[in-house]
Amino acid sequence: MIKKETMKIISINVIAKETVEMVLQNEYISENAAPGQFLHISVSGCTLRRPLSIAAVNRTAMTVTILFKIIGKGTKRLSEYVEGETVDVLGPAGNGFPLKNLSKKDKVLLIGGGIGVPPLYFLGCTLKELGYDVQAVIGFQSKDFVFYEERFKKLGETIVVTNDGSYGEKGFVTDMVDKITSFDRYYSCGPAPMLKAVTNTFQDKEGYLSFEERMGCGIGACYACIIPTNDGSNYKKICQDGPVFRAEEVSL
Ligand SMILES: Cc1cc2nc3c(=O)[nH]c(=O)nc-3n(C[C@H](O)[C@H](O)[C@H](O)COP(=O)(O)OP(=O)(O)OC[C@H]3O[C@@H](n4cnc5c(N)ncnc54)[C@H](O)[C@@H]3O)c2cc1C
Ligand code: FES
Repeated sequence: MIKKETMKIISINVIAKETVEMVLQNEYISENAAPGQFLHISVSGCTLRRPLSIAAVNRTAMTVTILFKIIGKGTKRLSEYVEGETVDVLGPAGNGFPLKNLSKKDKVLLIGGGIGVPPLYFLGCTLKELGYDVQAVIGFQSKDFVFYEERFKKLGETIVVTNDGSYGEKGFVTDMVDKITSFDRYYSCGPAPMLKAVTNTFQDKEGYLSFEERMGCGIGACYACIIPTNDGSNYKKICQDGPVFRAEEVSL
């Protein structure tokens, strides 16, 4: 259940260009967080909360890690917080990645782009703990933006892609189709054009997409986050119904 909680900042570090890793402590959120869920964070000086995915959880230390790219006022201000300060958070928010109906012999592919990579790390750790075979393709703009490569490699075979070829493979995540060994289900998170390309490329596979598009109220009231659907219901709200959807459920 989502709750309003205070989280203490345990550490804050720049881990790649314009990319910040923040570790926050709170017993309730760390105990209840599931992969694909996010924190809706109140940032000082900003009226609206900012949604940021849960990238990792340490239940023993009661910590939750978020990774964010500085793109505007809210993320810039959040990057200026220091250890020991607290943030007001609504969480764990949203419907996470479904894990049901996976069989132990199934191979899972994680496909992440940029700020879509963080929730897939928490998912990958969880799948690995449960004994699944995990592969990952993670894409970034260029070498300077790459993060968590080593961590993903500890989970399973990982391909790093950069748009400009300055690190790893050159191109887009979907260009790596030939290099990916067989898999049964994919989970993907990243910008909408990437999710569209992923859906088109893997039409014959069972897939789940997580959307990180702009949100407004975050509680289903403003319609800022709607996404068209294919199931006759016209649209869904990312904040209330998502952020994770079955690939065939949404129209991109
Ligand atoms: C469920 C969910 C999970 C998310 N998880 C993460 C995460 O783990 N890490 C992370 O870095 N970001 C994540 N995001 C995106 C993050 O919420 C936005 O980057 C952040 O709210 C921007 O706030 P800002 O005040 O810095 O930017 P603003 O000042 O509000 O905007 C600056 C510029 O960025 C554009 N912009 C704002 N939000 C977005 C967006 N979501 N997508 C594309 N362009 C945008 C604006 O139109 C504007 O041009 C997530 C979003 C959602 C909905
Ligand atoms: S953000 Fe307001 S309805 Fe989803």
